Amino acid sequence: MRTIEVKASKGYRVLVGRGLLADVGGRMRQAGRAGSVLVVCDDRVAPLYLQAVQESLCMAGFAADSFVFPHGEESKNLATYARLLSHLAKKSLTKSDTLLALGGGVVGDLTGFAAATYLRGLGFVQAPTTLLAAVDSSVGGKTAVDLPEGKNLVGSFYQPELVVMDMETLKTLPAEEYACGMAEVIKYGVLGDRDLFDQVKEGTGRFDEEAVVARCIQMKADIVQEDEFDEGKRQLLNLGHTLGHAVEKASGLTIPHGQAVAIGMAAVARAAWKLGLSEENCLPQIQQALQANRLPADCPYGVQELLGAALSDKKRRGERIHLILPRKIGECYRYSLEVDKLSDFLQAALS
Ligand code: NAD
Ligand code: GLY
Repeated sequence: MRTIEVKASKGYRVLVGRGLLADVGGRMRQAGRAGSVLVVCDDRVAPLYLQAVQESLCMAGFAADSFVFPHGEESKNLATYARLLSHLAKKSLTKSDTLLALGGGVVGDLTGFAAATYLRGLGFVQAPTTLLAAVDSSVGGKTAVDLPEGKNLVGSFYQPELVVMDMETLKTLPAEEYACGMAEVIKYGVLGDRDLFDQVKEGTGRFDEEAVVARCIQMKADIVQEDEFDEGKRQLLNLGHTLGHAVEKASGLTIPHGQAVAIGMAAVARAAWKLGLSEENCLPQIQQALQANRLPADCPYGVQELLGAALSDKKRRGERIHLILPRKIGECYRYSLEVDKLSDFLQAALS
């Protein structure tokens, strides 16, 4: 098992290894949790892992209950959040109790936001079961739900007390979902680790999965420790995300987050090269890595379809928007663009 320490406003450990869910209760005890635990998961994860997790919690002396909601981004909204809060109230959870998010990024983001806000803060533990949640969403404390107007528009920073990543859960993950996680892994390579990029660029099955997951988490921990509240360096993690979120929105959420990030990454690499904003043309390498990992690189939408969504992005600050651009594979930087130039940037990004 590998342990990564995150030293943010709240310090916590991320455990990465095989078979860890069987003793998630014991590990939560070691992390100082006590009282009741509500396991939150979606209806695809529940039949696979909920029973084992509940048994582990009972063995460790926790009172365990569960809240299961329909899978998918469509559930990451205020209605599911309100139902979860009502459930917490009916079950009389107190501030010393814990919400355990068992699932992908949708479960983690929603559960974290409920944990942050119910009674102004409950205990919170993440047990990611997707590659994307393992390398990105379960670490760093961003929690949120979507509004019809855009993704993640309501949220808070709320760090977990513990993250338990059982690598065995990835065995049941559908190939398309695994690929979505690989988009985030490729993102880490492009933004800060050429070796990592080289390890994964030829596709799945040719790298040490656990080492790669741990490397991504360590990179995220390092960035979050420096800029927990997303005022500068952390925005690097948004490589491909401004256009990615616009793609997700234009698709009516039918294009999943990881695929949208892949499209967004290729698009900014294209624009950066065309506009003389990168040192090397990263596009062919990124396209090749995405293709080898069964990810799309071409954007199915035009400038006008993406412009409105990109302008309402959270990373907009008044009349400027910050985009993350690759300088070369393994190095990215923040580029501040006037919003009235975004249309030209998108033109370069998409054609
Ligand atoms: P997800 O949670 O919807 O999971 C994808 C699908 O896989 C779901 O249908 C789920 O039921 C299923 N699944 C999960 N684990 C499984 C397993 N082990 N076996 C079989 N099926 C399994 O999506 P995701 O890709 O994990 O996360 C995407 C979400 O994460 C988006 O909402 C995105 O905005 C958010 N996100 C948040 C952050 C953050 O920092 N908080 C970072 C990146 C992404
Ligand atoms: N996924 C982007 C971040 O955590 O900042």
